[in-house]
Amino acid sequence: MLDTPTAPIAAFDLKALPPGFFEDPYPLYRALREQAPVHRLPDGGVLLTRHADCERVYKDAATFSSDKTREFGAKFGPSPLFTHHTTSLVFNDPPLHTQVRKPMMAALSPRAIAEMEPGLVTLVDRLIDAMQARGTVDLIEDFAAAIPVEIIGNLLGVPLADRGPLRDWSLAILGALEPAPSAEVLARGNAAVTAFADYLTGLVAERRAKPADPERDVLTRLILAEDGGRRLSEHELVQNCIFILNAGHETTTNLIGNGLELLARFADARARLLAKPELAKSAIEEMLRYESSNQLGNRVTTAPVRLGDIDLAPGTFVTLCIGAANRDPSVFPDPERFDIARQPNRHLAFGSGIHQCAGTTLARLEGRIAIMRLLERCPDYHLTEAPSRNPRVRFRGFARLPARVA
Ligand code: HEM
Repeated sequence: MLDTPTAPIAAFDLKALPPGFFEDPYPLYRALREQAPVHRLPDGGVLLTRHADCERVYKDAATFSSDKTREFGAKFGPSPLFTHHTTSLVFNDPPLHTQVRKPMMAALSPRAIAEMEPGLVTLVDRLIDAMQARGTVDLIEDFAAAIPVEIIGNLLGVPLADRGPLRDWSLAILGALEPAPSAEVLARGNAAVTAFADYLTGLVAERRAKPADPERDVLTRLILAEDGGRRLSEHELVQNCIFILNAGHETTTNLIGNGLELLARFADARARLLAKPELAKSAIEEMLRYESSNQLGNRVTTAPVRLGDIDLAPGTFVTLCIGAANRDPSVFPDPERFDIARQPNRHLAFGSGIHQCAGTTLARLEGRIAIMRLLERCPDYHLTEAPSRNPRVRFRGFARLPARVA
């Protein structure tokens, strides 16, 4: 480890990324981890790249708060985006966090998710049939992005005919979470929150009038949920439904897209998985580790705390670099190697602690069925052009993955 960070590392700024970063951020992450694992950013916050530091922060919710009211106030001003994000469970501490999370977890139980498998297989096979009929396809548009929107639409009971705009709303809202969103990105995000909230207010009213089975329907569960005699307000309900749709959408699209690109890139891994499909579970974990769909997380310190050799004052904005932590050699031997049989695999792709992803079972199921069905039915699928990436630092994935399937 070096004592003094080299100039590019000392000056590294998430809001002014160097050329080539989106293609391959990992050499920079590695240099940060080795030279400045708790890196002071120009705006006064810090960026963490070691697994142990990220895990410690995730697990200590009292010292590292998820409440982003101050940051989002500065970033979004009084706006629909501000209202939305400051009401979502992921950007709140207990008690609101617990009140939303409890019923959500109950409706997303492993049993409820397992029951979704047959419908998921049918959906995936239908998409593969359509792609095989065409031959030349975009694995994002025609496949990866088409799956989560249907699955989460089912989970919230959004009628089929209403699902058209969901993906664009979701992309617009999440796009505004980038470290330096443009005025246009903010305007699109604000318009999407307004349209989405209007739509969901109507859906909530319908569901109140005609509740569904609370064992299966997340929305009914959230409407009926009570904590200490308090029910969620209309506003909390609507904003958290927007969040579920967003949380499970782009992340899962990117797991499927990134996984298919990895199997196209590493022919040996693809051949091994085809020969030994029982490696599917560990292969999905390795895809989550190697190209994590969600690369960054954030917390704010509530008290003075020391991380590495840096003292942080209360109110410091902390960015956890999941993508870097997941290639930390102190946890993952030979971390740059894509090893579909890697065991153990303590990646942080789903975060950790009280906010750990509520959709892990669902995301893993969607990833496994989508990737394994495509591999089994189209073992020779291959990319026909260089894929184009979404130029985003927080959500890592492709905009297009042009391919040929047979
Ligand atoms: C590959 C797919 C996915 C990835 C990589 C992912 C990643 C994450 C991460 C890193 C967090 C923690 C955020 C933090 O602590 O700051 C999180 C939270 C969350 N995720 Fe996921 N997620 C995925 C899929 C899903 C799906 C399918 C759903 C929904 C059905 C979902 C619902 C949630 C919810 C509700 C939270 C907030 C939990 C809380 O604050 O207690 N996610 N996710």
